[in-house]
Amino acid sequence: MSEIFNFSAGPAVLPKPVLVRAQSEMLDWHGSGMSVMEMSHRGKEFTGILAKTEADLRHLLNIGANYKVLFLQGGAIAENAMIPLNLLVGRSADYAITGGWSKRSVEDASAYGNINVVANSEPNHYRQVPDFSTWQLDKKAAYLHVCTNETMSGVEFVDLPDTHSVPVVADMSSHILSRQIDVNQYGVIYGGAQKNIGPAGLCIVIVREDLLGRASPLTPAVFNWKTQADNQSMVNTPPSYSIYIAGLVFEWLLEQGGVSAIEKVNVAKAKLLYDCIDASDFYINHVAIANRSRMNIPFYLRDESLNEAFLKGAEAQGLLQLKGHRAVGGMRASIYNAMPIEGVQALVAYMQAFEQAH
Ligand SMILES: Cc1ncc(COP(=O)(O)O)c(C=O)c1O
Repeated sequence: MSEIFNFSAGPAVLPKPVLVRAQSEMLDWHGSGMSVMEMSHRGKEFTGILAKTEADLRHLLNIGANYKVLFLQGGAIAENAMIPLNLLVGRSADYAITGGWSKRSVEDASAYGNINVVANSEPNHYRQVPDFSTWQLDKKAAYLHVCTNETMSGVEFVDLPDTHSVPVVADMSSHILSRQIDVNQYGVIYGGAQKNIGPAGLCIVIVREDLLGRASPLTPAVFNWKTQADNQSMVNTPPSYSIYIAGLVFEWLLEQGGVSAIEKVNVAKAKLLYDCIDASDFYINHVAIANRSRMNIPFYLRDESLNEAFLKGAEAQGLLQLKGHRAVGGMRASIYNAMPIEGVQALVAYMQAFEQAH
């Protein structure tokens, strides 16, 4: 079989050099005689790994000293509840629904207080981010929640509305580190690691310091951002092996030239695939061009009766996990940082050959 390319939306492909390095360090990390999995999280070896991982992430995203970086468990879905518990108390918050994940965030947050949906593209089948001029923003809201890359429908934000200093809380699970951002535009950035960062089990929360200390007394200690910030993310045992792999991914990304360099590759990869879809009458993508995700590219065969044959043929060529999310059907190619351009070239060649044959 030819080389394998894994287009899974998450858990997703990791850089091959990272896996090779993890393999070589699996039994004996740096002469310690221990696997990272076996180390005390409070020992000097692991605290060193954690400090380096945080420093590299700060460097990659240019995170200012007025932000805390937390390494938590529970994934992005746990944070859906922890955001209101940490920030809402007695106030209301604005939420934009631009896809399945932000809709889920609204559902999860609604148990904790007053949630206003300020924009909703569901009636439009999540094909674009609603024009900011239509958003019903509240200048007194505790925060505005957005999901800046909707993994299922492939809708990505390129900018943010003017919130008049209401802090923006962004779920960046599926595009963090894929493009340059200005962290200072956000109050909180969070994301599950299992797409662009590392293995599942780790959730990263980047929170502006002035937003700490507002939590409801009902907030569990392990999810209280201030308590975790005061304890170097060690109120409980952090997901140590996932953090270690994330650290290797950050080192790999720095070796590639950082976020600005990988962004150029991501632009080229996405263009290859969208150009292939747009040039054909056989495939279609429904997302407004300005909001097309560079990371998650859903597409449909106009003749859906060919879906199974398409997936079977792709798999035979080593092009794996192209089936669309069960909520939206069709196909989806997730082309995160770790997907080499050769993977997208192979997919495009297969799509063109399949179109020819049918
Ligand atoms: C944008 C986004 N938010 C939230 C989630 C849920 O993340 P988790 O399963 O890590 O809680 C996902 C998972 O795919 C996602 O893509």
